[in-house]
Amino acid sequence: HRTAAVIPAAGRGVRLGPGAPKALRAIGGTPMLIHAVRAMARSRAVSLVVVVAPSDGAAEVRRLVDEHTLPDRTEILVVPGGETRQDSVRAGLAALPANVTSVLIHDAARPLVPVDTVDSVVEAVRDGSPAVVPALPLADTVKEVEPGRPGEPEPVVATPVRARLRAVQTPQGFDVTALRRAHEAIAVDGEGATDDAAMVEQLGITVMVVPGHEEAFKVTRPLDLVLAEAVLARRRA
Ligand code: CTP
Ligand code: MG
Repeated sequence: HRTAAVIPAAGRGVRLGPGAPKALRAIGGTPMLIHAVRAMARSRAVSLVVVVAPSDGAAEVRRLVDEHTLPDRTEILVVPGGETRQDSVRAGLAALPANVTSVLIHDAARPLVPVDTVDSVVEAVRDGSPAVVPALPLADTVKEVEPGRPGEPEPVVATPVRARLRAVQTPQGFDVTALRRAHEAIAVDGEGATDDAAMVEQLGITVMVVPGHEEAFKVTRPLDLVLAEAVLARRRA
């Protein structure tokens, strides 16, 4: 294995509302997590996928992975995750064998990422960038505010120039040594880092952006599930 993928799938999915853990929710009748595993396994470069399961759900996830058809040259490991996404990614990194040189970190919550996006990240890492993220220009203008009480008006602090901003997706690709170093060196309070590349940036490493894809959107809120169902239905039509 030179390139492996780690899929953090241990989140609860609070913003999606009540129900099963987000990664186990179905899209087109198949758990989101299985779509995400297939999306990684479809890349010819990826021969190992590490799924980071909810800490009390590793056995169930193992069963799910075994009962769905996946490209058979891909090895799948399942490990239990942690409290924060950062903890879960660390658990996934710890499970990688020593011969892995580059790693993709891919949210289970981005089940529909096209293989071309995965391949362009892999290629940029293989071409020598230690950290690569797929991203898209923004549709909305973004304001920085001074956060107030929920529901109360908040003063605007700044308006960054939209043309210079990018919304970042996954898979994010890394030289495995660089990402491991970042995880050892960087501690983030509270929710932890929501973006792996941000940790590597803090080491002073330049992160490169390649074009992302609309269909690599993250399923976060209920409306995103509606969109995911529609995208899948269009693909199957
Ligand atoms: N994740 C994880 N371990 C955690 C928290 C998140 O592996 N402790 C994973 C999620 O399963 C998801 C990805 O990180 O695939 C992106 O996180 P997010 O979209 O925030 O998912 P959740 O944390 O599950 O959702 P929410 O924040 O709404 O609870
Ligand atoms: Mg979260």
